[in-house]
Amino acid sequence: MKHFAIAIDGPAGAGKSTIAKMIAKKLNIIYVDTGAMYRAVALYCINHGINCRDKESVEKILDQIEIKIQYIDNVQRILLNNEDVTDKIRTQEISQGASDVATIQAVRIKMVELQRNLAKTVSVVMDGRDIGTHVLPDADLKIFLTASVEERANRRYKELIQNGIECNLSKIKEEIEARDKNDSCRECSPLKKAEDAVEVDTTGQTIQEVVNRIISLIPKQFDTNNDN
Ligand code: CDP
Ligand code: CDP
Repeated sequence: MKHFAIAIDGPAGAGKSTIAKMIAKKLNIIYVDTGAMYRAVALYCINHGINCRDKESVEKILDQIEIKIQYIDNVQRILLNNEDVTDKIRTQEISQGASDVATIQAVRIKMVELQRNLAKTVSVVMDGRDIGTHVLPDADLKIFLTASVEERANRRYKELIQNGIECNLSKIKEEIEARDKNDSCRECSPLKKAEDAVEVDTTGQTIQEVVNRIISLIPKQFDTNNDN
């Protein structure tokens, strides 16, 4: 049977990874978090004293970076030069660094190749910024997930507080706005809705409401059959 793909794009805090994981579990297929790949590149740069905005320096070291994706109990782990860095890439500094390295075309070419190779072998729910527009233009379902910046900042704030991390709501909002701008205004594959994507505004919606809505959009032949 043909593999199938669901593309979920949208800005930070829209709920992409939460929703994508739940849909992948329901369909018993793989969830691919493409943001983690850009985050791993940023981690390498930061660890090696390279400014994530410095295109020439990042391009020079790109060959030194090998990223691999593994699945343990269906959960994605990301390996940077064979080291599992999954738990090291969720800091504010790495979020901004990822957004910076993601503006560099050579970085994107390398990450997109990895992403397309993954989607060739298995059915996937893949989330990111350019999945519907560029990585998987023939995806079977494309979702563009949004929410107001206030709601997205509130979600991140609650998440950090729940994890015992002290933070400041207005700083989080500023960081999200800066990343929205960086991601939407860059030249290569900016964050934007694919023409054939369904826009789902999650402001004021529970996670379950959003999942139900997306499930209702999945073409029937993919809902119960899968090839994994
Ligand atoms: O992946 P993305 O940055 O788009 O967002 P996320 O990490 O999936 O979601 C950010 C936070 O919002 C998480 O704590 C989710 O539990 C929460 N969330 C929510 O409260 N309501 C939704 N409809 C979706 C996500
Ligand atoms: O989880 P959150 O939405 O905060 O971010 P992420 O999905 O982990 O992505 C981190 C950064 O990587 C984003 O701000 C984008 O700049 C970049 N990214 C991208 O350019 N293209 C993708 N397909 C995924 C992420």
